[in-house]
Amino acid sequence: MCGIVGYIGPRQASDVLIGGLARLEYRGYDSAGIAILSSAGLDVVRRLGKLVNLSNAVSESPVPGTLGIGHTRWATHGRPSEENAHPHIDCTGRIAVVHNGIIENYLEMREELSATGHILRSETDTETIAHLVEAYYDGDLAAAVSRAIKRLDGSYALGVVHLDHPDVLVAARKDSPLIIGIGEGENVVASDIPAVLEYTREVLVLHDGEVAIVTADGVRVRTLEGADVSDPEMMHVEWDLAAAEKGGYDDFMLKEIFEQPKAIRETLRGRMCNGEIQLSELDMKPEQVAGIDRVFIIACGTSYHAGIVAKTLIEQWARIPVEVQVSSEFRYADPIVDDDTLVVAITQSGETADTLAGVREARERGAKVIAITNVVGSRVTRESDGVIYTHAGPEIGVAATKTFTAQIAALYVLALKLAQAKGTVQQERIEHLWSELSRIPDLVATILEDIDGLRECADEYIGARSSLFLGRGIGVPIAMEGALKLKEISYIHAEAYPAGEMKHGPIALITEEVPVVVVATQGHTYEKVVSNIQEVRARGAQVIAVATHGDEEIRRHAEHVLYIPATTESLSAIPATIPLQLLAYYIAKARGCNVDQPRNLAKSVTVE
Ligand code: M6R
Repeated sequence: MCGIVGYIGPRQASDVLIGGLARLEYRGYDSAGIAILSSAGLDVVRRLGKLVNLSNAVSESPVPGTLGIGHTRWATHGRPSEENAHPHIDCTGRIAVVHNGIIENYLEMREELSATGHILRSETDTETIAHLVEAYYDGDLAAAVSRAIKRLDGSYALGVVHLDHPDVLVAARKDSPLIIGIGEGENVVASDIPAVLEYTREVLVLHDGEVAIVTADGVRVRTLEGADVSDPEMMHVEWDLAAAEKGGYDDFMLKEIFEQPKAIRETLRGRMCNGEIQLSELDMKPEQVAGIDRVFIIACGTSYHAGIVAKTLIEQWARIPVEVQVSSEFRYADPIVDDDTLVVAITQSGETADTLAGVREARERGAKVIAITNVVGSRVTRESDGVIYTHAGPEIGVAATKTFTAQIAALYVLALKLAQAKGTVQQERIEHLWSELSRIPDLVATILEDIDGLRECADEYIGARSSLFLGRGIGVPIAMEGALKLKEISYIHAEAYPAGEMKHGPIALITEEVPVVVVATQGHTYEKVVSNIQEVRARGAQVIAVATHGDEEIRRHAEHVLYIPATTESLSAIPATIPLQLLAYYIAKARGCNVDQPRNLAKSVTVE
């Protein structure tokens, strides 16, 4: 949601800003703008819609200058429009501000500023920041920014420039990510790493309450009180620009689907040693792990579906009761968690506001919180007691794919660890499950090698308006994830149900026009699932079944069968996901949808 890029150095800032914003496009936005500072003044160009509109405007009327800030806005306060697009300027037109986050007391600030003669021209909360900086400015830009942000309630990542300071960019943050790529004689401020990778892989991670004074030659970090921060956090980015590019694939989503064998393998690497599941991130003594008597999982969207998979695994293997709740409900539900509860927060981005709020709530209630995330240094990593990283590499497509299967891989490890600590699964079985788990990346690769049938199947359903996804047991969250993928990228309505529950209502929706996708892999409820298939077929439905290789019988019950290799039932969640991701992908592509940036969606949802 929203993207920030700021640049200071020898290059034309507009090129760096627009290039950097393009690398953040995946985050979702509805308008874009830049402000460039030069000896001629402060030029602001803003356009509604895609970045190409801004880029065309800048090509037609270039804005020279080597210091600037840019932004892609996902509307919160005020409709998407040119007036509401960032950067925002103060009354004098000498200060420009870009902002990610939400200023909760902006109405109060607007009233105060208007009463003292400031003219606000947009509907946004951000514009108040430009006017507050103007009000506090007395020659020291960083001090004015510090004073202004002390007045703000809410979250912000900020980039600020002032015509009086042609060689300084001021950046600050609270509850919204901001990094500074440290180059040679140039520095790039950004809300996410891909925007700086063209210039550097050395990154300064700004923390809450820190203000950075960025020049071409260096960065000084101060507290809001003006004290120097002598040891700001530095980080070397392990991946390069190629990892953040499409690499010959049509879309990031397809590339990321194909990267799953590697993502799962990397996530499992080093987790078994001499028969012991390795999970030092729990930071608990064996007897403490054995003493866990309740697990609460909080997450949103796709990560929530990974949480439901984990419930099945932990309950089955470790015999610990698990509750799974969407984060936005958890916080306000007066949840029953205490210091005997292990709370697992799953979030690929590590920045999801609802999940972060849930983490705070859980810790306030005394629970130990373990985060599962894909983003090193993300906010959830600072707010949790321990972090299990998925090693999926950068995920640019808005639809989560490889991070989902990597999350499940990490959750398999957690469930096995709990089972081993509790002694609820015999050592021989643990080792057998581990060896089966280690095969999963290869099984996924096998599925990805043979997808022609899947494309043909997808072609038949591009005209569907509504669809139903069914499964039982571990197939339920996989059906839910399949439905989410289809609806978010193809805009076909898709609903998921436990297959046995279908006859209690959703069966009324079944017609010949409603395709029914059924997770019908081998397992202890297989026969029941087949009966459910018969129920929908008797009402005219076309069935697409995800089934296990060797199951020829299923062909009699389904129009299309998408086969996956055989594995242990509880480990089938990952392979069964792959055909559903591809089905959604090919249907969406055939409908002409932008699969990487579906409408209204953002990669990390930083507002509650
Ligand atoms: O970054 P998170 O895992 O916390 O994100 C949660 C959801 O916003 C995310 O999974 C969303 O549902 C995706 N669009 C799914 O493809």
